[in-house]
Amino acid sequence: MSAHAKVEISSLPPRPEPWLPRLEGAPTDLAYVPTVLIVDDIDLNRRLLRGILKATPYRILEAKRPSAAFSVLDMEKVDLIVVDLVLPEMSGMEFCQMVKADRRTQLIPILMLTSIQGIENEVAGLESGADDFLLKPLRPGLVRTRVSTMLRHKALVDSLEEAETILFALAQSVEHRDRYTGMHCERLASYGIALAHALGLPKQEQLALFRGGYLHDIGKISIPDAILFKRGLLTEEEWETMRQHTIRGEQICRPMKTLAPVLPIIRSHHERWDGSGYPDHLVGEEIPLLARILQVADIYDALTTARPYKPAFSHDRAVAIMLEEARRGWRDPELVPLFAEVVVRQREAEPSEANVKQSLEAMRRELAG
Ligand SMILES: [Fe+2]
Repeated sequence: MSAHAKVEISSLPPRPEPWLPRLEGAPTDLAYVPTVLIVDDIDLNRRLLRGILKATPYRILEAKRPSAAFSVLDMEKVDLIVVDLVLPEMSGMEFCQMVKADRRTQLIPILMLTSIQGIENEVAGLESGADDFLLKPLRPGLVRTRVSTMLRHKALVDSLEEAETILFALAQSVEHRDRYTGMHCERLASYGIALAHALGLPKQEQLALFRGGYLHDIGKISIPDAILFKRGLLTEEEWETMRQHTIRGEQICRPMKTLAPVLPIIRSHHERWDGSGYPDHLVGEEIPLLARILQVADIYDALTTARPYKPAFSHDRAVAIMLEEARRGWRDPELVPLFAEVVVRQREAEPSEANVKQSLEAMRRELAG
């Protein structure tokens, strides 16, 4: 083997761990028949489109008006909407806006058809949420290609969404194994978002905190039960294994591009302001802000809920402990007092479990919109 070849091999990225989820190249569901919904009030137009798509394996549904289309969307799983710009009841653009504003339908791609030429029209249409445009008169070959491309993209989005759902379920099962931390993820997400809101952070960062509330400890799935649930003190070696959950968690979530903003939270939520944390011994503002926020929320939740080794501390006692930790140099000295203030306002509302779930769901919808 030549020296050149050796260099190439040694510079390859490391192989993923065998237990990591692999999404690339996963087989697609060949038996699945995508559903296309045509929304147009003119019978001839619908018939024409149906004719163009006749040779394709798609299931075609039709709606003459937006209200009928929304009834179909309520009952059926639709993979693509083909809509005319001119409709009764509302314009095609308003229809797009409504589809994209609803969390249940926002990921359905929309192909808009129009006979009105002009870049302003296209821009307005795309801004309203249409994913692509086709000008009339329609060219059958182009319609079929465009429809098939959009459906392929939708299938990819579906598989990513499924993978993300599975990951969240996995993260929650990790939390639920420890029966003392019920609703822990929900509370963290809620505290984290409240603090992010107070700091005026953008929606995307709030969403990252929401997800981080659930996913930050997913790496614990790779920690042996004998260590995770050990009664009594951990040995130094066991601590070393335990600390790995930050790196493992990052590795688990890294293949999902949508989770990229959450990775710094997962990796750095155990760093300390003075550099004595793990895994990278980051100091001060080197620690990503979102990780610092989640950490403060995590510690507060641990202090104010009962654990096998301690009772639930009062808000005042928890805040006093955290301020003391900030004074010692472990926590962000500006974030702790701000968190204390924000959490007081939240606790004044005294949210029940059902309320927390409800308001989180509302927040999730708002953030995703
Ligand atoms: Fe952790």
